[in-house]
Amino acid sequence: MERQEDSGTGESRPRPDAEAHTAAFRDLMSKFPTGVSVVTAVDTKGAPQGATCSSLSSVTLSPPTLLVCLRTGGVTLEAVRETGRFAVNLLHEDAERAAKVFAAPFVDRFAEVPWQTWLPSGLPHLHRDAFACADCRVAAELLIGDHVIVVGTVSHITMSGGMPLMYGMRRFLSWAAPDALGHERLPCPGQQADGVAVRAGLAVPDGD
Ligand SMILES: Cc1cc2nc3c(=O)[nH]c(=O)nc-3n(C[C@H](O)[C@H](O)[C@H](O)COP(=O)(O)O)c2cc1C
Repeated sequence: MERQEDSGTGESRPRPDAEAHTAAFRDLMSKFPTGVSVVTAVDTKGAPQGATCSSLSSVTLSPPTLLVCLRTGGVTLEAVRETGRFAVNLLHEDAERAAKVFAAPFVDRFAEVPWQTWLPSGLPHLHRDAFACADCRVAAELLIGDHVIVVGTVSHITMSGGMPLMYGMRRFLSWAAPDALGHERLPCPGQQADGVAVRAGLAVPDGD
């Protein structure tokens, strides 16, 4: 970020145009809703650590690989890097409190939510708040600015029923919320009202 020196205090602070650019970027990403995960790990003292994380992305199917971006200086990233292992807990729609607990500076976040050690991996699982957990081994790391992209090879997946918690437009909502709120489903450009995508004159099923 570009910085300028304050003539009065001598302190450097972001230029107004850089601040506007950052705000525009925040705004852009707020309009890209995602699911909500909690990345968990065990530090070298054996204590569980974890942070709410929406930067989860699939990387490749073969081998099953995902990535998360974790802030530098955080206890979760430290534990992940120290041990080379982490779990991604996908939160269900009733787990907003857990999402807030793992985003807040609690001294002991794990005292606030039920969790258990998943014995095959030894990693902490939020078995009440997550409907799926993926145990991973760190395959690569890349530092970008104040975050590290952590690439993980998925070694084990546990799944149970549930609908995902979502985060977008700076709020939490359930996957079913747009329908529950009675929002009209407007067709996107190139899409019929019934959700069927129309490409080059051919009707194709929406999604994979
Ligand atoms: C919905 C939501 C998504 C978040 N996604 C991320 C993320 O992808 N990466 C990240 O570093 N922090 C993310 N955060 C912020 C962290 O949860 C928060 O900074 C937390 O305190 C980090 O824990 P740590 O101290 O262990 O790093 C998110 C917060 C919320 C509420």
